[in-house]
Amino acid sequence: MKTLILYFTTDGQTKKIAERLAENITHEVELISLKDQAVNFAEKIANADQIVIGASIRYGHFNPLVYQFVERHYVALNQKKTAFYGVNLTARKENRSTPETNTYVRKFLARVKWHPTDVEVFAGALLYPRYTWFDRMMIRFIMKITKGETDTRKEYEYTNWQQVENFGKKLSNRL
Ligand SMILES: Cc1cc2nc3c(=O)[nH]c(=O)nc-3n(C[C@H](O)[C@H](O)[C@H](O)COP(=O)(O)O)c2cc1C
Repeated sequence: MKTLILYFTTDGQTKKIAERLAENITHEVELISLKDQAVNFAEKIANADQIVIGASIRYGHFNPLVYQFVERHYVALNQKKTAFYGVNLTARKENRSTPETNTYVRKFLARVKWHPTDVEVFAGALLYPRYTWFDRMMIRFIMKITKGETDTRKEYEYTNWQQVENFGKKLSNRL
């Protein structure tokens, strides 16, 4: 039994979640970044029993590479057990934290031809000191209007690790 976890990350949180999922899966797991151009993804998908794809939101969107990947591989993906997880800051709010209430994830699923067996939404991290000046100011503005943290000297992690572990166990048990 083998699970393949593919992730698209910019600042590392989606990868960190992928690693925690893997720690909770008791069979073989392989983690690969969707940015890795040396990988033959069609072969990787064909050789896995379950495929998980995780991606984060930046300025309202999942990266175009995620859409391109799904468009290229949806036929194979639809024939396997699969899961998708979306990572964003909006999900820190309880009423925006499910696949139905998280607009980014809902829109993504409505747009793609892939129908994941399972979908999960995780709150991400807010790493002000690591952002460029422009990104820091933009995110601070968004956080201010959504009543979030605005101290740009600090880093905040909203990911519910218990939720991640539970999802990992679910992925482990369903194969
Ligand atoms: C430049 C930038 C733009 C972002 N835009 C959004 C956004 O529009 N909506 C949202 O909910 N979260 C937004 N986020 C929050 C990210 O989704 C969050 O930081 C996540 O943990 C990033 O995951 P990654 O490190 O795997 O890329 C943004 C973060 C950054 C740095």
